[in-house]
Amino acid sequence: MAAEIIDGKKIANQIYDELSEKIDVLKKKNIIPKLSVVLVGDDPASAVYVRMKGNACQRLGIASETLKFDADINEQELLSTIEQLNRDASCHGILVQMPLPGHINETKIIEHILPQKDVDGFHPINKGRLQAGLPCFVPCTPAGVQEILIRSGYSPEGKHVVVIGRSQIVGMPLAILLAQKQKGANATVTICHSRTQNVDFFTKNADIIIAALGRPQAITEDMLPTHAVVIDVGVNRVEDPQSEKGYRLVGDVDFDGAVKRVKAITPVPGGVGPLTIAMLMKNTVLAAENKLFKTN
Ligand code: GUN
Repeated sequence: MAAEIIDGKKIANQIYDELSEKIDVLKKKNIIPKLSVVLVGDDPASAVYVRMKGNACQRLGIASETLKFDADINEQELLSTIEQLNRDASCHGILVQMPLPGHINETKIIEHILPQKDVDGFHPINKGRLQAGLPCFVPCTPAGVQEILIRSGYSPEGKHVVVIGRSQIVGMPLAILLAQKQKGANATVTICHSRTQNVDFFTKNADIIIAALGRPQAITEDMLPTHAVVIDVGVNRVEDPQSEKGYRLVGDVDFDGAVKRVKAITPVPGGVGPLTIAMLMKNTVLAAENKLFKTN
């Protein structure tokens, strides 16, 4: 039997409706949430992501600005820009689009962002708070994956979740998030990565498989049990002469094979992507509400 195809756009729309109500409340208090995006260089994929983030802000009535810099900007200039945004009371969320050019130390840039404005959840303070189960900005893609699971009726509670990939942006924080002793989490989590032997041993014993390894169509049908719920985080450009753009997007899962076998699966595009952006909007609203780090 063919799998259920989970519609990420539909779930993102539910979240937008909920956020609209929160934004109305803020506006009644004369607070307009604002996201400042820093984009360095001319990576085409980054430009697309940044445009999509701006469009989402516009749709919700969140103010946004994109500060664009040439790839040869020096680190000090970028640090000063972040300092200005840290001080700017009208800016609630700061996002520096990754990757940055090689001569810039990404860690140093991230550590310069005020944790209270770090809507990506990349600052070590937010990472530490996530691990400790404290209120924090949860990184957008991991938060989006959790929302997909909960809202499509596949709660990770008590399930064996296999996360494939241990990146600092997705795999590692997602594993930590889903293992938390908290509603909508409480999973038994296995992390597989590039040095894991026999990844299929783990995937075959999983209830939920999350592919976030960044390799096109690497997870194949034969690795997946029929009862599996598969969340595909991958966004890979592969050459396609038949497409107008000369390429198409595929996930980390071989969708055509997997969809014939498993219980449920997210497509690429239209699965996790819309949720990542919805969670960024949620974090920006949270930043504007400014109560995340308050203890009373
Ligand atoms: N590059 C790829 N994913 C992300 C993300 O979630 N946030 C930022 N800032 N850059 C990215």
